[in-house]
Amino acid sequence: MKTLALIGAQWGDEGKGKITDMLSRQVDYVVRFQGGNNAGHTIWVDGRKIVLHLVPSGILHPHCLSIVGHGVVLEPEAFLKEVAEVRQYIDVTKKNLLVSENTSVTTSWHKLIDAAREGQGPIKIGTTGKGIGPTYEDKIGRRGLRVRDLLDKDQLHARLKNTAGEKIFLLEKLYGIQAPTVEQETERLWGLGQQLKEFVGDAFGVLQEGLAAGKKALYEGAQGALLDVDYGTYPYVTSSSTTTSGVHTGAGTLRGTVDEVLGICKAYTTRVGEGPFPTELFDDVGKYIQATGKEFGATTGRVRRCGWLDLPLLRYAVQCSSLTSIALTKLDILSGMDVLKVCEAYEVDGKTFTTARPGMDLARVKPLYKDLRPFKDDFSGDKFSSELETYIAHIEKGLGIPVGIAAYGPDREQIKFRKSFF
Ligand code: IMP
Repeated sequence: MKTLALIGAQWGDEGKGKITDMLSRQVDYVVRFQGGNNAGHTIWVDGRKIVLHLVPSGILHPHCLSIVGHGVVLEPEAFLKEVAEVRQYIDVTKKNLLVSENTSVTTSWHKLIDAAREGQGPIKIGTTGKGIGPTYEDKIGRRGLRVRDLLDKDQLHARLKNTAGEKIFLLEKLYGIQAPTVEQETERLWGLGQQLKEFVGDAFGVLQEGLAAGKKALYEGAQGALLDVDYGTYPYVTSSSTTTSGVHTGAGTLRGTVDEVLGICKAYTTRVGEGPFPTELFDDVGKYIQATGKEFGATTGRVRRCGWLDLPLLRYAVQCSSLTSIALTKLDILSGMDVLKVCEAYEVDGKTFTTARPGMDLARVKPLYKDLRPFKDDFSGDKFSSELETYIAHIEKGLGIPVGIAAYGPDREQIKFRKSFF
C-alpha cells in the first residue's frame, strides 16, 4: 500500500498522534490536510510528553517529510513556537518540514473574533478559541490570507487593508474589543513570515511527484468524523472536512486514490465542548473513565465528557469516512472495570436505528446497550484475554471492518498490530 489516511472516528482525541507516530516509521510523507492548532496530538517518547498542534506527527522521524497541506489553517506564531519545541528533540529544516505556500493564515483578528463570539453568540459551540472558524470563513469567503502573502510585505499590507475593515469594525463596535491596526498586524505577520519562509514551498507538487515515484504517504487527520462540518453533529462541529474527503481538497492524492482509511477510535467515547452525546455517563463509571483515562483536552485542558462505545455513531463514521479498518485505543482504561457496555442501536419515537444519520437529533435518541463480559488484561504478555478478544470481535462484527491496531497505553510500544499497513 502507498497511501493511508488516518481519520478520527469519533469526536476527536482518539489517540491519532501516537498511531501516526508509529506508522510514520514506514512512510516517506506525513501530511496534515485540515484543521489547525485546535488539534492536540500527544506522543510519549521515553516518558516525555510531546504535544503537537500544527506540526505533523511524523516529525520525530528524521527520514520522513512532514507536510502541512493547503487545507490547514496555520497560526504562524503557534507554529513557530512548536517548531522551537520540536527542535529540542530533532533537527527541523525544509528537508523534514514543508508548509504549503497556499495554506490559510490565522490572524490576531480571527482569534479575537472566535473568543468574542463564544461569549455572545446564539449557540455556544465550546470552540478551542484558536480562531479556526473565522479563518475558514474568510477562506471560503475569498477574503483569506495565505502563507505566500506573508512573504511579500506590500502584498501583505494590501490584502490586510482590503479585508480588515470589517473585522476591526466588528471587534470594536459590536464586541467592544480593542483590535490591532492593519499596520500593527502587517508588521507582526511580516516578521513571522520571515521566520516561516525556510519551510514554505510547493507542497502539492512535492507530494504529487513523490507519489508518482512510488513513495508512501500517511494523511494525518485532525479532530474526528463527528466534528466534520458536513457529516458531523452540526452546528457542534469544527469548520473543516475532517473525514477522508478533506484529504482530496486539503492536500491532494495521486489520481484520486487513498488506498486505505484507518479510523482511530477509543475503546469508549469522549467529547469535549458542547453538543449531544448519546452514551454520555454522568455517574461514577463516567468519572472513573475520565480520571483513569486522564481525559483532559490536550489543547485547552478542558475536562472531556466520557461514555460507552457507540456503534451506531461508529457505523456512520465508517460510511462517511470510507473506513477500511479501525485502530482501537486506550483499551487499558477499560481493563479491570466491573461493567462493560456497548451501545448497539438507538431508539427514537418507538423506532430502532442501528446507524446514525446526518441531521438525526442525537439529543433525543435512547441508546440501547449490550452487556459484555469485562476484561482484566495487564497487557504484559503477547496475547489478549478471551474476554478482550470477544470485545474486539464484537466491534469488528458490528462495524464490518477489522480492528487492525489495538493500543493499550500512552507509550509508543504499547500497541499491537493485528494487520500490516504498508
Ligand atoms: P473549533 O475547532 O475550535 O472551532 O471548535 C469547534 C468544536 O470542535 C468544539 O466543540 C471543540 O471542542 C471541538 N474540537 C476542535 N478541535 C478538537 C480536537 O482536536 N479534539 C476534540 N475536539 C475538538
